[in-house]
Amino acid sequence: MAKSTTTYTCAACAASFSKWSGRCDSCGEWNTITEDTGLSAGPGGKSLGAKRGTGVILTELAAEETPPPRTQSRVAELDRVLGGGLVPASAILVGGDPGIGKSTLLLQAAARFARNGLKTIYVSGEEASAQVRMRAQRLGLADAPVQLAADTNLRNILTTLEAEAPGLAIIDSIQTMWLDTVDSAPGSVSQVRAAAHELTTFAKRKGISIVLVGHVTKEGQIAGPRVVEHMVDTVLYFEGERGHQFRILRAVKNRFGPADEIGVFEMTGKGLAEVTNPSALFLSERGKPSPGSVVFAGIEGTRPVLCEMQALVAPSPHSQARRTVVGWDGGRLAMILAVLEARCGIPFAGLDVYLNVAGGMKISEPAADLAVAAALLSAREDSALPADTVVFGEISLSGALRPAPQTENRLKEAEKLGFTTAIAPKGGKAQGASGLTLKRFSDLTGFVGDVFGAG
Ligand code: TYD
Ligand code: MG
Repeated sequence: MAKSTTTYTCAACAASFSKWSGRCDSCGEWNTITEDTGLSAGPGGKSLGAKRGTGVILTELAAEETPPPRTQSRVAELDRVLGGGLVPASAILVGGDPGIGKSTLLLQAAARFARNGLKTIYVSGEEASAQVRMRAQRLGLADAPVQLAADTNLRNILTTLEAEAPGLAIIDSIQTMWLDTVDSAPGSVSQVRAAAHELTTFAKRKGISIVLVGHVTKEGQIAGPRVVEHMVDTVLYFEGERGHQFRILRAVKNRFGPADEIGVFEMTGKGLAEVTNPSALFLSERGKPSPGSVVFAGIEGTRPVLCEMQALVAPSPHSQARRTVVGWDGGRLAMILAVLEARCGIPFAGLDVYLNVAGGMKISEPAADLAVAAALLSAREDSALPADTVVFGEISLSGALRPAPQTENRLKEAEKLGFTTAIAPKGGKAQGASGLTLKRFSDLTGFVGDVFGAG
């Protein structure tokens, strides 16, 4: 029988005993002796006991480390989102609504990587090989040296990947994969979690890049567990509005590059085409200057992107006025309406407010605040801003304007696209860095008074 190694320690003097007693023999304190749990107890309260592990290897933080080698697809929009290319021994999750174009994107990416000399395997759990082949033909990729498989049994897939040792494996989709060691249906939380765990550890062990495709639920989360997002190195979302022809690949997490980077693609009959100048695309449908329309000079990741904010303000027939937002945060809209009312005395009570980011773009930058406020006021006053003006800046609850990061980049992009005036907060870098006329304000009241002659 294993001998018990339990010891007892006095909390007052740290003396150690082999038996419990009410009073410490060493310091004389009462009720201070407790059982020594060896290592600390886990969250379940179960102690690791006195048995020690073998230890881990410690290295110096200052040790030399070369950056990981990267393989490029030479599709600039994709490589940028990946942080400069594909990193070996990494797992990437690509999430998106069903039918948004994930399989198309990844088949095109697979063909590019394969043509650039990276051994690539595409495993489809949703379509038969013949279907994938037909899609490839439609996309003009039929001759790309990509290896196909149509299977969902992960044990078999991993055996093949081990034998073939590719540089890149694409698993479309993680929800269709199943492990015979897990006793639940494919697509269930435990299957998705286990399959993602197997694939990510396999990627690390074998030094290959693995791309997992994940469907997104109605609530906008990758179906199955959020934990998949924690397991992988990179999480990309493929987004877009069904009625619009362009798609955005957005990095929401990247251990090997900047997050918030976007790649913009246009959907065509021959697949996805890169959009190297998204600002021009987002502004292409803009007509004459009209009330409620304001161009926001935004930044997505490292790149400036201009887009149009559209607002409509109309007397409400309802007892409770409507606030409807597409492409921006509803809470943030409520905040700006409140600031306009409280700090500038411009009420929106009894008015329906609609806000739309043109072209199906989604914006999360606080720097859009001032553009939103300008669009709301322009719609409410029925007075258009000059067509050659861009707006950006964050609004604080006090009504003060805060400078936005990367002011210089925003101004350069606006100038490149033919804008002549920028409305921005005071402060921030880039004084006189561009040929634009700058109108700078330190608070919202000043801006409202100057631009709309009110407030
Ligand atoms: P698909 O890639 O199958 O979407 P997902 O894998 O996200 O479910 O694309 C959906 C449909 O859209 C499919 O019928 C092909 C079509 N499509 C195009 O015709 N052109 C394109 O550029 C893209 C991306 C998709
Ligand atoms: Mg698909």
